[in-house]
Amino acid sequence: MKPRQLKKIAVVGAGKIGESLIGGLIDAGLVGREQVIATARHQERLDLLSTRFRVATTLANREAVRGASVVILAVKPQAMEEVLAGIRGHIKRNQLVISVAASVPTAFIEKRLGAGVPVVRAMPNTPCLIRQGMTVLSRGRLADSGHLEVARQIFATLGRCLILDERHMDAVTGLSASGPAYIYVVIESLAEGGVKVGLPRDVATTLAAQMALGACDMVLQSGEHPAKLKDMVTTPAGCTIDGLLELEEGGLRVTLIKAVVRAAHRAAELIHG
Ligand SMILES: NC(=O)c1ccc[n+]([C@@H]2O[C@H](COP(=O)([O-])OP(=O)(O)OC[C@H]3O[C@@H](n4cnc5c(N)ncnc54)[C@H](OP(=O)(O)O)[C@@H]3O)[C@@H](O)[C@H]2O)c1
Repeated sequence: MKPRQLKKIAVVGAGKIGESLIGGLIDAGLVGREQVIATARHQERLDLLSTRFRVATTLANREAVRGASVVILAVKPQAMEEVLAGIRGHIKRNQLVISVAASVPTAFIEKRLGAGVPVVRAMPNTPCLIRQGMTVLSRGRLADSGHLEVARQIFATLGRCLILDERHMDAVTGLSASGPAYIYVVIESLAEGGVKVGLPRDVATTLAAQMALGACDMVLQSGEHPAKLKDMVTTPAGCTIDGLLELEEGGLRVTLIKAVVRAAHRAAELIHG
């Protein structure tokens, strides 16, 4: 399969992440609304998706995958076995399956789909909705560089995209897929601090979020070690060092490290329920 030949994209299990991908892809103009079909378990979910994105929807996964150039599997890991059994025999080797499910190896999917169907595993995050996502891709045994390029082209329109060996996927899940939730807690907490020292809540939230955005861009654009950038803010005997001392006393570093490690371990277990 060559890039830029996407006729139809089927999103099987269009929940939170599936919706982020649909929204981002349409917004980016990579595909038109008429090229997308989404499935879910409940009709109410489909009604919401067709109202929000004006894409075709169906409860029948088999119908959705028929004729799709790319099938994105976005169901929970625990639902994967049942979903794969339902579409087996309805996907051919000239289609590409991209799974965004945590915990589910490409080999698991290849075995259940059979017929030499190529599989790429992707681990995106919800900021794909606003095309500020971070996605890591790994190719399965049957996917060639053309398949990987198609997947890269799709996810590159939704933010940054890296290609890594599949053995890193649980770590990626615990860091960049779960990570937005950690950062929302950090932003919420910083805003609470602002409220505590007298700022209106909406102002405090804007200050915290835009500050985080700028700091993140400094890391990505400068390529500097974050510690060096931190030192640039920290004037001797100034106020920032007092704030940093509080963070050290509260164990922020250790807490964040442990959060990623715990989430990565849990990611490895999800397939078992
Ligand atoms: N959320 C994230 O930030 C994120 C990031 C990266 C990867 N992921 C991965 O993405 C997958 C989905 O996560 P999520 O957070 O988007 O979960 P979610 O919101 O619960 O979405 C799952 C969707 O699957 C649908 N579904 C369940 N059984 C189905 C079936 N048999 N056929 C078709 N659709 C079915 C559900 O439909 P109903 O709504 O009708 O029940 C739901 O819309 C997981 O494997 C997760 O590891 C999530």
